[in-house]
Order: sequence, then structure tokens, then C-alpha cells
Amino acid sequence: MSLSDDLAHLQQDALAQFAAARTSEAVEAVRIAFLGRNGRIKELQKAFGQASAEEKRALGALFNQCLESVKQAHQNAQLGLAGAEVDEPIDLTLPSGARHLGSVHPLSQVAREVEEVFTSMGYTVIDGPHIEQDEYNFGRLNIPADHPARDAQDTFWLTSQGWRDGDRLLRTHTSAVQSRTYRLVGEGTLTPPFRRVVVGKVFRYEAVDATHDNTFTQVEGFVVDKEITVAHLVGTIRTLLTAVLKRDDVEVRLRPSFFPFVEPGFEVDVRSTSAEPGSRLSRWVELLGCGMIHPRVLEQGGVDPSRWQGFAFGLGLERLAMIRHDITDIRLFNGADLRSLHQFGTGA
Ligand code: PHE
Repeated sequence: MSLSDDLAHLQQDALAQFAAARTSEAVEAVRIAFLGRNGRIKELQKAFGQASAEEKRALGALFNQCLESVKQAHQNAQLGLAGAEVDEPIDLTLPSGARHLGSVHPLSQVAREVEEVFTSMGYTVIDGPHIEQDEYNFGRLNIPADHPARDAQDTFWLTSQGWRDGDRLLRTHTSAVQSRTYRLVGEGTLTPPFRRVVVGKVFRYEAVDATHDNTFTQVEGFVVDKEITVAHLVGTIRTLLTAVLKRDDVEVRLRPSFFPFVEPGFEVDVRSTSAEPGSRLSRWVELLGCGMIHPRVLEQGGVDPSRWQGFAFGLGLERLAMIRHDITDIRLFNGADLRSLHQFGTGA
């Protein structure tokens, strides 16, 4: 057999044996057999040393090629083992690495429920802009520029080109959406009867403490129809509170109050007879403002008050969530402290 045949055989054997080696010991044994100090390559090298100068020249490149390919086969075998180790059997019953699921913000949870209750009563959910005009936030709601009722809702004013200074503001209440809606009637794009509900952010220039924030959420509901009475208003509020506070024994109490855009106006307190003594709901809690929509407010929007009437109410969503979850600090909602937010579950 010629040296070149020997080389070819050696290479073939080495590649086959490396490919067949399944453990690191087996790979090592093949390495020693071929690439070791007394291995087959060394042997062949000795034979090669005795070859004639002519043969050496002819076979040199072939020899190097053979050596390289055996070394490469060795490397591949090692890499193959490394891969096989990763592929080791996986225990599917082991607990997986903890994967944190986000949770729906407690306010969003309550907001969804509120919207659901109202849509079930035939209301349409709407919203308006956060940056509002004086006209909608105050003027069309019977709160002219010098009216003392403005003091109760100090706001953030915006100034910029194109707008009269002091005309743009961050809305202080969702009642601004009432004035926008009545205006649609005057413009001919909406015809009564209608029921609307707004769940949206409002802003007030407030000193922040445990019960006040400068940014909070209001729920505003209003109905324009024929022969609407305070009884409808009370029934609606009771339905809302029963659903959101998840209690059958919610009691509501109306106290006369003043809001320029309703007449008569009330403040509503709530309590629950089954509430634990000492808990928030065991005593009357002031919860919302409401009343029969003032005829002038309807009229300014283009709704004929001799044909149509209605009720409106507005309440703070945070306050509702605080009562429901017995939360004592409103700052939790905007505070982004995940430790407190995570307690409200996934609620997705
Ligand atoms: N907009 C009033 C407030 O923010 C609440 C309210 C709404 C009162 C609707 C009456 C009717 O205080």
C-alpha cells in the first residue's frame, strides 16, 4: 500500500470514530489513538520520514490536509458533546422561573366596572378633552367669570398664541363634557333623549394630602329625557353603588347642596348597614354631587327645557375605590408604588 493510501485510510477511520464517539471519554480515546504521542499519525509521520525526497514533496500537502481534517473532526466531536449536554432530559415538572404578570391598576378595574354598569342601563360612554375652554368648564355651566363658585375649583390655566389669555385650562370636572354634549343638540348632531357617562381625569390646583390630589378621576353621568325625576337619579346612583361596592344593603341619603348647573342640587352620602363597625362604610360617607340639570344649562346648549329635562351627577372614582378597598391615602393611585398596586391582583 502506498503512503497516500495509508493517509486516506487513516483520515477515513479517524472521522468515522470521532463521529461515533458519544461520551467525552470516547472522544478522548479516539484522540489518543490518532493524534496522541504514539498515535497513528505519529506512526505515519515516521514512515513519511523514511520516504524519498520526491515522495515527500508529492505527499506533504496531502499529509497536512489529513492532519487538519482529523483535528477538525476532534473539535467537532467535542462541540457535539457540549450540545448534547444542553440537550439532556428536561424535567417538565420543575417549577419554572418566576415570571411576573402585570396587573390592572385598581382605578382602571373600578372604571371598567362603572362603565359596565352604565352601558347595561343604556348609557353611552364618552369623554372630552383634558385641556378645556373656560366656556365649557364654567361659562355654559352657569359659572360666569366672577362667580364665587369658581373658588371651589381652582385650576391650572394655559396661555399660548391663538387663544385669549386665561381661556384655556385643565378641566376641573367632567361636567365640561355635559356642556359639550348639549351644544351638539344645538348644532343638530344629537337629538334627545340620551344617556351619557364619562370616566375621565380632572385637575385642580390643590394642595396634595391623604384625601386630595391635583389629578384625579371623575365619573359623570347625565340623562336628558322626558319626565325625568329625582327618583330616577336616586335609583341610578343606588344601582351604581350596589354594583361597585358589591353590597346589597347600600343606603343613600340626599342633602340639599349648591352647584350652579343643577336645580335642585344635592350631595349624596352613602353607608352600608352590614359594614364592619368602625370601617368607612359603617358611617355616612359623602360621595357625590348631583341634581336636576339647570334649565339654563340645557338652553345654552340648544336643548329646549320646556320639552326636555334630566339629571346629572359627578363623583370621584378614587373616593369610590378607596371606600371599596378601605384605602386611606389617595396618593397611592398616582404614586406608582408597585408594592401597593400589586395587592390588587391581576384583574385582567
Ligand atoms: N362637577 C361637580 C364637582 O366636580 C359634581 C357634580 C356633577 C354636581 C354633576 C352636580 C351634577 O364638584
